[in-house]
Amino acid sequence: MAIDPPARATCEGAGSPSWTRRDGALWCDEVDVAGLAARFGTPLYVYSAAALRQRIAAVRAAFGDDAHLCYAVKANSNLSLLRLVHEAGCGFDLVSGGELERLVAAGLPTDGAVFAGVAKQEWEIDAAVAKDILFFNVESPHELPSLSAAGRRAGRPVRVALRLNPDVDAGTHAYISTGKQHNKFGVAIGRAGEVVSAIAADPWLELVGYHVHLGSQLHQVRPYAEALQRVCDFVDGDPARARGVRYYDLGGGFGIGYGKGPELDVAAVAAALLPTLRSRGWTPVVEPGRFLIGDAGILVTAVLGEKSQGAAEFLLVDAAMNDLMRPALYQAEHPIVPVAPVPADRSTHAVDVVGPVCETGDFLARGRALPRCRPGDLLAVLAVGAYGASMASNYNTRRRAAEVLVDGAAVRLVRRRETFAGMFADELAGESAPDTGDAGGREPGTGER
Ligand code: LLP
Repeated sequence: MAIDPPARATCEGAGSPSWTRRDGALWCDEVDVAGLAARFGTPLYVYSAAALRQRIAAVRAAFGDDAHLCYAVKANSNLSLLRLVHEAGCGFDLVSGGELERLVAAGLPTDGAVFAGVAKQEWEIDAAVAKDILFFNVESPHELPSLSAAGRRAGRPVRVALRLNPDVDAGTHAYISTGKQHNKFGVAIGRAGEVVSAIAADPWLELVGYHVHLGSQLHQVRPYAEALQRVCDFVDGDPARARGVRYYDLGGGFGIGYGKGPELDVAAVAAALLPTLRSRGWTPVVEPGRFLIGDAGILVTAVLGEKSQGAAEFLLVDAAMNDLMRPALYQAEHPIVPVAPVPADRSTHAVDVVGPVCETGDFLARGRALPRCRPGDLLAVLAVGAYGASMASNYNTRRRAAEVLVDGAAVRLVRRRETFAGMFADELAGESAPDTGDAGGREPGTGER
């Protein structure tokens, strides 16, 4: 008896079971991707709510119900995704006043937010104190007077965690390594004793924890364990360093596979750290971005044409480096797959997948084996939910892509394709405009100063 082949299988290269092939066509959960491209146009970011929820559940299961999960907003700051993340039980890891404004705009609570950032400005500190966030991750002694002054004005001490730079090699790309001594982040352990004393001496500051963040796209447990050991050694150097401490924020950085291998074993990280944290009474705080949203997003792009030049073959597509910076910036390799079933007579060849932007660095992939394409064919760039849309720009006066969220069979446009009028709205083409007094980059904040 003939057995029917399975109607669906996980899409090749995808890191989440939400991306499947049904009779060869790419689907996102209960929605076919080609239909989305027809409805919303390309380039188009598509996100799976199920994939995002599944990763949040995995991190929750690894670290336990008492852990505090803070989604790193910078990975993808779309307001609808922030709401979804909140509904799934996460707080937020912020790095700017703008990210705090996003929580306010989305109507989300701010009391579960932590705020890191190597050069926070006064208006950002004031806004976050007014919103009574969970704690600030202090990265530099120069922040202390501003934090203290904000606490005095608010009439309550400001909760701070000290971000230590543990000088641990995370084994990742140099541009996304943050925990080595030569990186600008955190306070070197050798200087941290003075900073703890300064915090302890200030009635408007309260030391509640320690923070480390070693870098992004980590695949080993070792750096996390080493960093905790160094923090413990530091804390054990003086009883005053443990006083009042109740959080250990181990950062984010959990790596994903990008079609080449497994993701970081998050359960193993938790198993390595939790016994120490429990024995000290420190609540774990985790700040993943990429691990939660990376595999939940794809970028759909349409083929414009092919061209060959000497030995090089190019596939010209309508998405470009302004839509997805990662290949140009970090030499990142994202899987790229056809959206429609590939006819059997299409041969495969190695191509550079390039966009319309006038830069040689404008490529989505180089020397990638892909079936021959025709104009109008659709391709999907996988694992772009993190640091895709959030790093997009208008370079070459290209409109930022539309974004849709798929939840089961439901589809919601969560960002309209940018309009040219919207893009030009803040530019002044010679007409006289009132001086808004924005010089110096100051912002009004959240209105509660
Ligand atoms: N916490 C802090 C303090 C961070 O600086 C970051 C990321 C995270 C958490 C979240 O890291 P994740 O879990 O997403 O790895 N644009 C680069 C990544 C830069 C990450 C910056 N900081 C990329 O596309 O690979």
